[in-house]
Amino acid sequence: MDIEFVRSRFAKHFNGSKGFVYASPGRINLIGEHTDYNGGFVFPGAVQQGMMAEIKPNNTRTIRAYSIDLKDYDEFSLDDEKGPHASHFRYLFGVAKEMEKLGVPVQGFDTAFAGDVPLGAGMSSSAALESCFAFAINDLFGGNKISKWDLAKVGQATEHNYIGVNCGIMDQFASVFGKAGNLMRLDCQSGEFEYFPWNPKGYRLVLVNSCVKHELVGSPYNDRRKSCENVVAAINKKFGVKAETLRDCTWEQIESVKGDVDPVDIKRATFVMGEKDRVLAVSEALQKGDYETVGQKMYETHQGLSKDYEVSCEELDFLNDVAFDCGVTGSRIMGGGFGGCTINLVKKDLYDLFVNTVVEKFQAKYGKKPVIIPVVIGDGSRRLV
Ligand code: GLA
Repeated sequence: MDIEFVRSRFAKHFNGSKGFVYASPGRINLIGEHTDYNGGFVFPGAVQQGMMAEIKPNNTRTIRAYSIDLKDYDEFSLDDEKGPHASHFRYLFGVAKEMEKLGVPVQGFDTAFAGDVPLGAGMSSSAALESCFAFAINDLFGGNKISKWDLAKVGQATEHNYIGVNCGIMDQFASVFGKAGNLMRLDCQSGEFEYFPWNPKGYRLVLVNSCVKHELVGSPYNDRRKSCENVVAAINKKFGVKAETLRDCTWEQIESVKGDVDPVDIKRATFVMGEKDRVLAVSEALQKGDYETVGQKMYETHQGLSKDYEVSCEELDFLNDVAFDCGVTGSRIMGGGFGGCTINLVKKDLYDLFVNTVVEKFQAKYGKKPVIIPVVIGDGSRRLV
């Protein structure tokens, strides 16, 4: 993202004035999908692509916002009940309101923002936007008193309360806490996390964007979460326990409530339980530099996401098959699913062959090129100037 570009647009729309510039990244996730809202583990890292916003307080109660990418302008009051209609502005409004809830004396501001995280690719452009504004509002109005964890939760609450996606914490966590060159293993139950330097000798990570728009709003994403909650409720009832999420449940317990819930819910829970184990297996393998095991687990995740969690689509399964046929070490759907990217762990000497083959085969079958996105692990939310 080019800072001068953002600055020039801000100046153009706001009478040549100058504000402060903030950035926050999108993310990848090595493994641990749909585990965050189930109290499990995730393994994300921030990417270099992200959202950038120039912001200047305007001494009113009004946010005046310009989306550079969408060439769309709106203004809305912080005292508005409903807030703006367009989702790209609702993120800003939601973040501002959630920051107010934490006691930050938010005031109106002028802003122009843009991003280079491809929209709908499953790389969390929305978390990047939320985290960018949460970080900025904390800096501009909150004396930086709000913790990084709370900033991540502000983004998540915005999704829940203003957008309607009952997401977990992974995306906002990754955007706020990201560190160049490091993946992070987060335990979503306890909130504990570790940085894992990511320097796989002889391998590269690359995303292949199917360009099938992944859209979580009003999508079966919330249904997946509900299925998992149904299984937990059935277990609590049967065993008189107080499990909060599938993290607190065992395979045996799931087996024993098979007759009490919809078989579809059981399929969903089966995936989540397996995924919980896979993240731990991957952490262990990474410590030993055993990338073959990492890759094998990624393929297993893809199968689970496709067959049991049913968040894949034809194009993503095709990309996964091509990767396998090329001898790619690991490949799977990344993020919420229903479109977007696969993430691929590829031996360096196979990289060019894979990239060329996947583009060619996808184009031959679907009449359009998938987009190749090499992964570079970048930094989390920050102020640039
Ligand atoms: C989306 C959500 C995350 C997470 C992933 C799936 O990106 O925002 O919270 O659930 O899907 O792992």
